[in-house]
Amino acid sequence: MAQVSFEGVTKRFGDTVAVDALTLVIPDGELLVLLGSSGCGKTTALRLVAGFEEASEGRISIGDRLVNDVDPKDRDVAMVFQSYALYPHLSVARNIEFPLRQRGLAKDARAVKVKEAAVTLGLDTLLDRKPSQLSGGQRQRVALARAIVREPKVFLMDEPLSNLDAALRVQTRADIVALQDRLGTTTLYVTHDQVEAMTMGHRIAVMSHGVLQQVAAPEALYGRPANTFVAGFLGSPGMNLLPGHLVHGEGDAVSVDVSAGSLPLPRALRPVADAAAGPVILGLRPESLRIDPSGPLRADVTIVELLGAETHVICKAPDGSQVIVRQSAQAARPAPHDQVRISVDPDPASTHLFDATTTERLVAG
Ligand SMILES: Nc1ncnc2c1ncn2[C@@H]1O[C@H](COP(=O)(O)OP(=O)(O)OP(=O)(O)O)[C@@H](O)[C@H]1O
Ligand SMILES: [Mg+2]
Repeated sequence: MAQVSFEGVTKRFGDTVAVDALTLVIPDGELLVLLGSSGCGKTTALRLVAGFEEASEGRISIGDRLVNDVDPKDRDVAMVFQSYALYPHLSVARNIEFPLRQRGLAKDARAVKVKEAAVTLGLDTLLDRKPSQLSGGQRQRVALARAIVREPKVFLMDEPLSNLDAALRVQTRADIVALQDRLGTTTLYVTHDQVEAMTMGHRIAVMSHGVLQQVAAPEALYGRPANTFVAGFLGSPGMNLLPGHLVHGEGDAVSVDVSAGSLPLPRALRPVADAAAGPVILGLRPESLRIDPSGPLRADVTIVELLGAETHVICKAPDGSQVIVRQSAQAARPAPHDQVRISVDPDPASTHLFDATTTERLVAG
């Protein structure tokens, strides 16, 4: 079993805290995506597992073995980088078999494994070529093949698709998912691309400034973000976040007042509203909103973006906060400077409430 675990792991570079008290367990066989913007500590977290960096604090284990003091070559992990890091003077076959030669495996056994990996990754007709004679996607597949022949306990992949064009990225990400599924090897996959994260990860761990924000399955992360950072980070565009406060009306009616208007809360959300201790942030996904003359919110249209299948109507509320409505290309489009009214999908799951002070999601007590 090769679960990977971080227990209170911190990595400092001088004054920079690259990874801050990270506690995270990746169960055996899981494909976990580490997602976050540039500089948030993703690569550092991978390098800590690989042993290329030493933790300043905390414990890192692979399987039930504490590896803090284990040499990188003895950790039984294989890392795939954004830059393919192939040997330019060696053929594809020699690149793939490189780790097996280092291990002193016999020629015949090497040939079998190279063939197997090459077939798996569609490289079997390219074995005699040099890396310079391959496309970017083919080079990245050679790097993957070189990782899989090692049969490591853990794959560590650092933005392996970012040098590929859009179409090839889609293809290669499907290939990696299928490969990981077949091999069942525990995988940590780093990306700053949320689409990659949503489509590939069994679970996604979102990081910001070295701090783990939330770890959850893609649907849960999107549907129930733990704080306003995750809410705004996921989705394109991200969730609209409107500062406001709760108002208790007649009976047990509760509404949330934001500068765009007063939104009555669905009954199912009242226990959540009861957990609020002060000002809140109302979170509404752009796809949960509709331009609707009888809607409770009002805002001024600033820009209308046509994206082919859908349109983003970008509006400003009176307090300057941005409200984006994502609608199908067929829906009637307002024009810039129009004042519009907006309604919210009545499904209680479409309305999110966060504590304005802590930025944490409010949950029923
Ligand atoms: N060797 C180093 N020395 C000093 N600071 C470092 C070193 N490596 C990383 N850092 C710093 O640690 C922080 C995290 O860097 P890291 O490379 O882990 O980010 P990342 O999430 O992989 O970013 P990107 O998406 O740009 O690759 C950054 O502030 C970076 O400048
Ligand atoms: Mg990085």
